[in-house]
Amino acid sequence: MCGIVGYVGRSEAGPILLDGLRRLEYRGYDSAGVAIVDGDHVETRKCAGRIAELGKLMTEKPPGGTYGISHTRWATHGKPTDQNAHPHFDQSGQLALVHNGVIENYQSLKEGLLRNGQHEFISETDTEVLAHLIGSLYDASAPPNGSVPPQNEKSRLVRAVRAALQQVIGTYGIALVHRNIPDFIVGARRGSPLVLGVGKDENFLASDVSAIVAYTRDAVYLNDFDVVAVERDKFEISSVAGEGGNYEVSKVEFTEEDIKKGDFPHYMLKEIFEQAGSVRDAMRGRLSTEECTSKLGGLEMTAAELRDVGRIVLTGCGTALHAAMIGEYILEQVAGIPTEVEFASEFRHRNSPMTRDTLVFAISQSGETADTLGALRESRRKGYRTLGICNNVASTIARESDGGVYMHAGPEIGVAATKSFTAQLTILMLIGLLLGRMRHLSTSEGTRIIEALERLPEQIEATLKLSNEIKRIAQKYASANGILFFGRQFNFPVALEAALKVKEITYLFAEGHPSAELKHGIIALVRPDLPSIFITPDDAVFSKNLNNIEQVRARKGPVIAVTTGKGADRLRQVADDIITVPATMDFITPVLTVIPLQLLAYHLAVELGRDVDKPRNLAKSVTVE
Ligand code: AGP
Repeated sequence: MCGIVGYVGRSEAGPILLDGLRRLEYRGYDSAGVAIVDGDHVETRKCAGRIAELGKLMTEKPPGGTYGISHTRWATHGKPTDQNAHPHFDQSGQLALVHNGVIENYQSLKEGLLRNGQHEFISETDTEVLAHLIGSLYDASAPPNGSVPPQNEKSRLVRAVRAALQQVIGTYGIALVHRNIPDFIVGARRGSPLVLGVGKDENFLASDVSAIVAYTRDAVYLNDFDVVAVERDKFEISSVAGEGGNYEVSKVEFTEEDIKKGDFPHYMLKEIFEQAGSVRDAMRGRLSTEECTSKLGGLEMTAAELRDVGRIVLTGCGTALHAAMIGEYILEQVAGIPTEVEFASEFRHRNSPMTRDTLVFAISQSGETADTLGALRESRRKGYRTLGICNNVASTIARESDGGVYMHAGPEIGVAATKSFTAQLTILMLIGLLLGRMRHLSTSEGTRIIEALERLPEQIEATLKLSNEIKRIAQKYASANGILFFGRQFNFPVALEAALKVKEITYLFAEGHPSAELKHGIIALVRPDLPSIFITPDDAVFSKNLNNIEQVRARKGPVIAVTTGKGADRLRQVADDIITVPATMDFITPVLTVIPLQLLAYHLAVELGRDVDKPRNLAKSVTVE
């Protein structure tokens, strides 16, 4: 995925575009660029590398002008080079375009353009093809002779954009400017997010509101197939087909403060430390001590409909998939409903037979992940009720699902997901409680769960105090050749999640497995320079984990254990390092056991000098397949 920002107003566009790009850098960071129209020429600065590199270029030679577009890239078509960096131009060199998404039929569109012999491409990107296509349609529609009033030029450009997009197969969030049409930007979206920021005598376009929240909190979240013509003091939304578009101006629910790092050196650490609050926010107003259950109005389902749910499918990618895997244990154990987890990327292409009473949940922090969105659409196409568990309120998944539950975790900017994971677990626990109370859970069991959930934020605070101890452990193992993670039941997916965190931000080899799988092959890897981390709360399967730890010890593998309560006493003889988190009900433990492992991955990455918030090759959410 990539990030785009557009501005038209009375201020210098350069600093606003650069500032917006910095806020979107989490979306991609292998090259960046701006195109700003200054009088009769388009000023372009672009280069491979981080936004900081672009910043240097813009400081050396500041581009003037009060309207323009900009882009930060996560390469899909073409290497991250200066040439492939956006903006891209049409054949005339007068139209500049930035794009987030993938034009799947760009080869055939390119061949069509090349056939008329007037096009030459200088990059390897699909975006340049789209710029040429729009430019050629715009030029072809010019009246035979004579100048055209500016207003007609604007609608001519919008018509060219529509005509080009009608030929496109794929996804796009775009913004473009034309040298000859002053103070005018066109945007459009399909499959990639685009938001219009409505200011006073200035307007903005961006992939995400965080880019513009410092300037305005009034936003229009564009829908797929919307085309927006943006001027300083007005905007007009229509569809690719040329019909009038419906829109609503919403208030952005967070402020600029929420997206600042504050005193933390990295967003990831800030977000790890926000988890007591984010878990509290995920539960806020949703627990009923009177009825000993949870209240989730957003599900948009009657009690009778919820009672009739016979099977649940949970789908998502990456960290959200790991939350789903824990959700499977929770919903089966707490609610007694058969539950399955599906990789969103597989589910959408598989013809998985499901019963009529199946309820599908699509879990996604960003609400924009292409694979999860594809799974949601496929599930709805087949007629299943499909609900979203999202953090991003105005996201496509949130809007396209039949209902759902928001995480309320606040903006998550670090590429490695942390607070969204524990918020997802919290929501899944609330769903388990609600459905369980409609089935076999008694009022006293419901009360016990509510009390345990209410204690959770305090227990998270206590767990976060372990950060320095975990830093010491990270320093001890920083030269390890990799890490193995093991857990059972609710904590097996925590092993997967911890391994993902380590891989993402330290680039060390890491794997997660069910503890019992050790003896079925993985034990061959055990050696003195490869630590094994066992997530083993003092629960029903503690003794089983202890056996597995002994097996590692016998082969001289270092062992780190994450445990609760009395577990530490029993581990003292066999583990090199022990991390003890507060005790809670078994199904709630993952919220607490994952935190020291997030911290471990973080401290390891810092120790190894990695770029924690912008790990190599990654982007925060993946809006391509
Ligand atoms: C997690 O650390 C990753 N950045 C990644 O696996 C992420 O969880 C996945 O891409 C899904 O994103 P989503 O929750 O926004 O859909």
